[in-house]
Amino acid sequence: MGKPCLLALCGSTRDSSINRRILHIMAHGAEEAGARVTHVDLRAYPLPLYEGDLEADRGLPPGAAALQILFADHQGLLLASPEYNGFFTPLVKNTLDWVSRPLPDGSGRPGTVHCQNMPAGIASASPGALGGIRSLQHTRLYLANLGFLVVAGQVGVAHAGQAFDDQGHLVNRELHRRTQSIGASVARLAATLQGRQTAGMQR
Ligand SMILES: Cc1cc2nc3c(=O)[nH]c(=O)nc-3n(C[C@H](O)[C@H](O)[C@H](O)COP(=O)(O)O)c2cc1C
Repeated sequence: MGKPCLLALCGSTRDSSINRRILHIMAHGAEEAGARVTHVDLRAYPLPLYEGDLEADRGLPPGAAALQILFADHQGLLLASPEYNGFFTPLVKNTLDWVSRPLPDGSGRPGTVHCQNMPAGIASASPGALGGIRSLQHTRLYLANLGFLVVAGQVGVAHAGQAFDDQGHLVNRELHRRTQSIGASVARLAATLQGRQTAGMQR
């Protein structure tokens, strides 16, 4: 059995995104727990705003089909998104709405094919005092609706402009450890589920 492979998605494509910094800490925790992590730059997968007529006329955009293949090849998700007015970003919603659509050959059921029982870990960072925690309950619910198994625990990093040291670590060491532990939990659950699947195939 190989190492579980996790996708790392950031809900911001800004060059100096603070959420990407948090994502790297979660990813490091996952790697230390034995996973491989693929960082996805969503700028490489430009997608129109989801629209049913567009999908009916032209099918899945190439970026959505490519992301579906990436999801199919990975066993877990790490997601760090900014909070926009109390919610995760439209980039996350639009990207995963497209990913949840049926496979290009028409097989599969919407919302269940790519993400079903896929472990996920979530975090948010904000320059504000609440660290994006209001958005995390929505992120958790949305991912669960898509079929993800969102691990317990989540991190909202407040006053994020001052929260990192020069090495990209959180100055608050306990928060740093908790952020890493979310990645580690996803890695361990992905490995467990992968093991069960392999054992099931051998029976
Ligand atoms: C449209 C919009 C709405 C925002 N709403 C919130 C909010 O509800 N809570 C919050 O803490 N920060 C909010 N912010 C500030 C973001 O947390 C901040 O821009 C952050 O740096 C974005 O993350 P990034 O650095 O990863 O791009 C908002 C920013 C924008 C552009």
